Amino acid sequence: MSALKNIDPNNVPSHIAIIMDGNGRWAIEQGKERIFGHQNGAQAVRNAIEAANTVGVKYLTLYAFSTENWNRNNDEVETLIFLIANSVRNELEDFMKNNVKLITIGNLKAMPCYCQEEFKIVIEKTKNNSGLTLIIALNYSSRWEIGEAVKIIAEQILENKLELNDINEYAVSSFLSTSSIPDPDILIRTGKEYRLSNFLLWQISYSELFFLSIMWPEFSKENLWQIIYDFQLRERRFGMTSDQY
Ligand code: FPP
Repeated sequence: MSALKNIDPNNVPSHIAIIMDGNGRWAIEQGKERIFGHQNGAQAVRNAIEAANTVGVKYLTLYAFSTENWNRNNDEVETLIFLIANSVRNELEDFMKNNVKLITIGNLKAMPCYCQEEFKIVIEKTKNNSGLTLIIALNYSSRWEIGEAVKIIAEQILENKLELNDINEYAVSSFLSTSSIPDPDILIRTGKEYRLSNFLLWQISYSELFFLSIMWPEFSKENLWQIIYDFQLRERRFGMTSDQY
């Protein structure tokens, strides 16, 4: 039986973030080049978007390319960026049909021009959609993002736009690239690795973590629904005790 039937529609997580890991290993296991894994990963992205949309998740953040991914060999980097840009462009029609709004976090300006252009087109065309917001983390890392926020805060203090005493956790959040987005309720990582890889480190303070032993190209809608159901069975205490909850 599908876990979809067990999901309580009144307790659907508002934001799910995913570290899509294991594309390369999955491809090698099939005797193929690593990029074959990324290509199949694009289908898993579709599964995640559709599954999230079906149950009314409002925000889905996908870690597509990290600032550290530039260290991979040139061929893989170029092909991966092309694949991401191309996939997003090809999905435009479906985004419009399914009311999906696309935004990015990360240093988009340092991406190749054609990639920036493809993203700008899809972001512009989907900007009034009011269903799922799909957030692609592109050339993103948490340390980069926090560094940028610190820079803006320092500038505003120097220009007397902000006072030292105004700085608290809410102020810091408001200078991050995710300022308009609630913190993730759920963080998922596929690929049998148990680390956070510089992803949304500030924002996942109270996220529920799910580590899957499947590789990203194997990720199905059912996987997402099962995680949402398991999430609904967890008690989120936010530092309080069980009886206060
Ligand atoms: C990690 O697997 C995956 C990535 C660095 C890229 C993710 C990109 C896609 C799924 C392509 C489509 C994306 C979008 C947004 C349309 P890995 O290569 O590090 O796997 P490994 O750990 O097995 O080497």
